[in-house]
Amino acid sequence: MNKFIVDPRFAGIKPFEKKIWLASPTMHGNEQHWVDDAIQTNWVSTVGANINEVEKQIAAYVGTKYAVALSCGTAALHLATKLAGEKLYGQARPNQGTLQGHRVFCSDMTFDASINPVAYEDGEAVFIDTEPDTWNMSPEALKKAFELYPEVRLIVVAHLYGTPGRMEEIRAIADAHNALIVEDAAESLGAKYRLNGQWVETGTLGDYNCISFNGNKIITGSAGGMFLTDSEEDANKVRKWSTQSREAAPWYQHEEVGYNYRMSNIIAGIVRGQLPYLDEHIAQKKAIYERYKAGLADLPVKMNPFDAEKSQPNFWLSCLLIDEDAMAPMVRGEQDYLYTHESGKSSPHEILDALAAFNAEGRPIWNPMHMQPIYLTNPFVTVEGNGRGRTNAYIKGSGIDVGADIFRRGLCLPSDNKMTPEQQNVIIDIIHRCFR
Ligand SMILES: Cc1ncc(COP(=O)(O)O)c(C=O)c1O
Repeated sequence: MNKFIVDPRFAGIKPFEKKIWLASPTMHGNEQHWVDDAIQTNWVSTVGANINEVEKQIAAYVGTKYAVALSCGTAALHLATKLAGEKLYGQARPNQGTLQGHRVFCSDMTFDASINPVAYEDGEAVFIDTEPDTWNMSPEALKKAFELYPEVRLIVVAHLYGTPGRMEEIRAIADAHNALIVEDAAESLGAKYRLNGQWVETGTLGDYNCISFNGNKIITGSAGGMFLTDSEEDANKVRKWSTQSREAAPWYQHEEVGYNYRMSNIIAGIVRGQLPYLDEHIAQKKAIYERYKAGLADLPVKMNPFDAEKSQPNFWLSCLLIDEDAMAPMVRGEQDYLYTHESGKSSPHEILDALAAFNAEGRPIWNPMHMQPIYLTNPFVTVEGNGRGRTNAYIKGSGIDVGADIFRRGLCLPSDNKMTPEQQNVIIDIIHRCFR
């Protein structure tokens, strides 16, 4: 028997019969129609009406002139990063990346798909610490990074959990250093940001912009992603690269390295069926966030923050951060963890284990990139400057590391838009009992 089920703190709570997911696909019926349409018309390929339609509809929704449908958000980020590399440093030889020998400033609190394309293109990611007000790239740390590495010309910025980052400041810093921005809006489709007094969508804020239709996103195609731009030339280049870089010869002729990154017309059919429900999903996610905020208000925790003046998140994931003085002891190894309980306190892993015991899925905060084993030798910059090598056996304390702190004290809550208010109340109750 699971220890939480028999723990008297949780007496009377029964596991959910059907699992409550972190964020699962929500189908509405139209998806089947457009998939069937693709099959009946025999457009079962990377060409077809569904692809053309979702490109048109997403461009119109987000407010860019062009949208290029791709196999996934990672593919969009790769081609966006390659475009930026080619623009900055010229075309690379077939066996070399466009960023070879160059550093790129990258969001640190994000999923690794945001920044792996820098490695695909042979560049070196320099991770920029997070600011506590939106859990996104800190403009102050970015300024420090330009002091340390003034030659950098590219910045990759993500909007974590659907909350827009401080893009106005980041854009001003980028402009001052003549740098380009790749925007990763994979988690934030439908989130709005007030740029110079005007509300605009995330996915329009970079020089090269990307979204994702992964199964866990606000709307899904089961997979899929898009490159968004106002530049016809860039859209055409991404379309070419994504379809194996064919030239206009009658035979297969190639002047550039190509990729098989185009979206399938079947996937596009699912996206087409989902698109009318994007705003409904956002409203449901917002209601979930607000119910958590109200229901957890009496606990020593805070919700993932956002700047209400300048942003309207899509509330893709609701998260909480435990106050420092309410943190029960918890340690993490490379792949395991250990915690103890103390009265009036809890820890992310105790809460996650309790939720799992009652058949609800939460998740640790995304482990920051500068702490990932693969990137431990990459530079990391905080508001204090170089964030590496700052600890010292002879001096007490350590440097500021906002990302590490959020990872340690935070967790992602079950945020599935099919969760009922009654089910969410049980989850809120479980979290309360963790602090008893
Ligand atoms: C921030 C972020 N960037 C990129 C991706 C990659 O998108 P995809 O799974 O569509 O390749 C994801 C999630 O999957 C993500 O959360």
